[in-house]
Amino acid sequence: MYAQLSSIIDLVADEDADVAALIAAENLRQNENIPLIPSENIVSDAVAAALSSCFTNKYAEGYPHKWKDGVAQVANGRYYQGQANTNQLERLVMDRALKLFVGDEADKYHANVQALSGAPANLAVLSAFLSPGDTFMGLALDNGGHLTHGHKVNITGKFFHAVQYGLTAEGLLDYDAIEKLAMENKPKIIICGATAYPLTIDFKRFGEIAKKCGALLMADVSHIAGLIAGGAHESCFPYADIMTTTTHKTLRGPRAGLIICKKELGEKIDKALFPGLQGGPHMNTIAALAVALKEALDPKFKDYAHQIVINAKALAEDLKAAGFKLIGNGTENHLILMDVIHSSDAVKVDDASRFAEDLETAHLVANKNAVPGDLKPWIPSGIRLGTPAVTTLGMKENEMHQIAGFIIRAAQAKGDSEKLKAIGEEVKTFLQPFTKG
Ligand SMILES: Cc1ncc(COP(=O)(O)O)c(C=O)c1O
Repeated sequence: MYAQLSSIIDLVADEDADVAALIAAENLRQNENIPLIPSENIVSDAVAAALSSCFTNKYAEGYPHKWKDGVAQVANGRYYQGQANTNQLERLVMDRALKLFVGDEADKYHANVQALSGAPANLAVLSAFLSPGDTFMGLALDNGGHLTHGHKVNITGKFFHAVQYGLTAEGLLDYDAIEKLAMENKPKIIICGATAYPLTIDFKRFGEIAKKCGALLMADVSHIAGLIAGGAHESCFPYADIMTTTTHKTLRGPRAGLIICKKELGEKIDKALFPGLQGGPHMNTIAALAVALKEALDPKFKDYAHQIVINAKALAEDLKAAGFKLIGNGTENHLILMDVIHSSDAVKVDDASRFAEDLETAHLVANKNAVPGDLKPWIPSGIRLGTPAVTTLGMKENEMHQIAGFIIRAAQAKGDSEKLKAIGEEVKTFLQPFTKG
């Protein structure tokens, strides 16, 4: 997959044949399966190389700035010596993140690039502004929200009072109902953003609701960050007070978290993340994020972001025409959510979890997912598909029609493993021109 992978495997093999064999096997798996999980992507050679750079050796607890009178002053705010390069690097990433997401308004915002992933980014923001037991609102997990938006098994649902909003029976955000709930509960924070919502999010409307009830608006744009960066989805700014995101989904960077907030909220968020929640940042990941953000600032990234949506729409249209029931009746972003249990007879299956396994037998990797109205989210009715990774591989509408054909045939195979394996062989051949081997 990556230009330097064979030499990496050789280097690892000199020390550890077991891990080298697993890296080689994973590379083969990635080359032989169509990646359709909407939260996954494929980073560039440069991002992968920066990840394995010597920055991994460096401890850099603290920040490349110090807060004074609510303003981040450029200064060495680290606890250990040897920070000449880490300080420059972290400031570079912060600048690039602000340029990408707030452009000319950069001087009004602050970026924190240290969150190890999306979940700690979200927890840091909540813990910056809420005390245990305080109320916030988020989209329920079985309606497309994330665990960290207040699910009861997650620390965000255990430590704080999480009021969960849902979707209409058709799978749409019901802004009037959200407003009513917000006015009744007066949350300190409203989280908007989702992990399985195929339609555009109206950030302006969320901003109005938050303002009306006196809450901060936190937009968790983990899934759509790359679309926002590439102009294929409306930005959450200026409506959101805080944006959190993972950096490894549509944004196509290393696995990490990023927080951008109004400048006046920066000190609390910085302190909540470190020393409140985390220790030393992963400077190699921050180096890789710098590279990914440079890629996202390149005009070519706009084409990629728009193609993701074009591809998702093409795939969705074919699946709908074949009889799959699509939540939201289609897609406006990178993601498709199909209720495969309540689809038409031509394609319906009786077990979505089993269908996810059938798809994998056919070398199509997607995930099972709850859909609105599922009474038992642990027995989901849905399959979630996405187009970021296949778009990165260079696929366009024509390939989406072929992928739709594979998915439809996999449903019609009704668990027949010989038929599924035969589709899998075709998929491997189909993929060859798009993978680097
Ligand atoms: C909306 C949203 N927020 C947060 C996260 C958590 O990110 P991570 O898995 O990197 O902790 C995810 C992950 O899927 C997500 O979809």
